[in-house]
Amino acid sequence: MIICHCHGITDQDIRAAVDWMRAADPGTIVTPGKVYRALGKRADCGGCMPLFLDSMRSCDTFGVPMQLRNLRGTARKEGVGP
Ligand code: FES
Repeated sequence: MIICHCHGITDQDIRAAVDWMRAADPGTIVTPGKVYRALGKRADCGGCMPLFLDSMRSCDTFGVPMQLRNLRGTARKEGVGP
C-alpha cells in the first residue's frame, strides 16, 4: 500500500528500511527522518506522517532498545538533569 504519495513510498519500503536500520545498528533510535534518508528521500508535504508512523510502529523491530528505555527516569534518580 502506498503510504507517501509525494514519493511513492510503500508500507513495505518503510518496514524494510526499519529492519535494515535495526540490523545495521541494534542501538539506534528509528525516526521518520532516518527512514526517509534510508530510502533516499525527504519529507515533502508531511501529509503521510500519521500513516507513516503507523507503518513504522507495525514493525517488529521498531521498538526502542532496552538499554535506551527510561533514561530520563534514571537520570532523575541519580540527580542528573532537571
Ligand atoms: S505524502 Fe508523504 S511527504 Fe507528502
